[in-house]
Amino acid sequence: MSNVFYIPGEQRAAKVNDLFAAIARRYDLLNDLQSFGLHRQWKRRVAELAAVQPGHRALDLCCGTGDIAFALARRGAAVTGLDFSPSMLDVAESRNKIPDPKSGARNPTFIQDDAQQIPFSDGTFDAVTVGYGLRNLTSWEKGLDEMHRVAKPGGRLVVLDFGKPANDLWRKIYFGHLRRSVPFIGRLFCGNADAYAYILESLKHYPAQLGVAEKMRELKLVNVRVINLLGGAMAINYGEKAA
Ligand SMILES: C[S@@+](CC[C@H](N)C(=O)[O-])C[C@H]1O[C@@H](n2cnc3c(N)ncnc32)[C@H](O)[C@@H]1O
Repeated sequence: MSNVFYIPGEQRAAKVNDLFAAIARRYDLLNDLQSFGLHRQWKRRVAELAAVQPGHRALDLCCGTGDIAFALARRGAAVTGLDFSPSMLDVAESRNKIPDPKSGARNPTFIQDDAQQIPFSDGTFDAVTVGYGLRNLTSWEKGLDEMHRVAKPGGRLVVLDFGKPANDLWRKIYFGHLRRSVPFIGRLFCGNADAYAYILESLKHYPAQLGVAEKMRELKLVNVRVINLLGGAMAINYGEKAA
């Protein structure tokens, strides 16, 4: 199977940028439709695991329209959301209003940059998160290296993405859903089936929860764990930078 938005190598980033420019305005709606709203719960879980509090700094990579950045900010951290898509960042900026300023929470700062070359010094952040982002990078390994580099010793790295269920039958059913229903919903509500067929194509080229956990161990992260959601159809990888 091939997809117009999946081209391995040098041209990949430009295609991914085109994809998110095409779907940015409908991105949040489609997330709700495709996950029956569950993505909100999973992103809250990411923010809980990041364990930030007032006085902490957090970085959310590939922040898109900002869901995880806002969840971290509501916990009182000073949050930077980084993404390379101006269209996705425009949506994030338009949502950039903490509902209750008296809570002490501050709006995230959104910056346009490349997750594979994070413009911050080593050891800057108490937590570094990424939701549905590593899978889209030309090199997911480089993205994880960078997350590790900019985390403080003891800092939490939290990765949320589509997973590969270990159970054969469930994996077949789930991949069938990604192959047929998800592009159908993409065509119906966003006029773009290819952008949503891309999810399965990119997942096939991504090692998902087991590969990310292995790489976290190679980086000598501690307390590495995989939290499977929906039988591994989604997963959160967690690890802490060694102190
Ligand atoms: C599927 S969206 C995820 C958005 C958000 N994190 C969420 O969970 O809803 C993936 C995001 O990764 C961004 N992205 C892809 N490659 C990137 C790169 N090399 N550097 C920064 N952002 C990138 C895209 O622009 C897009 O906003």
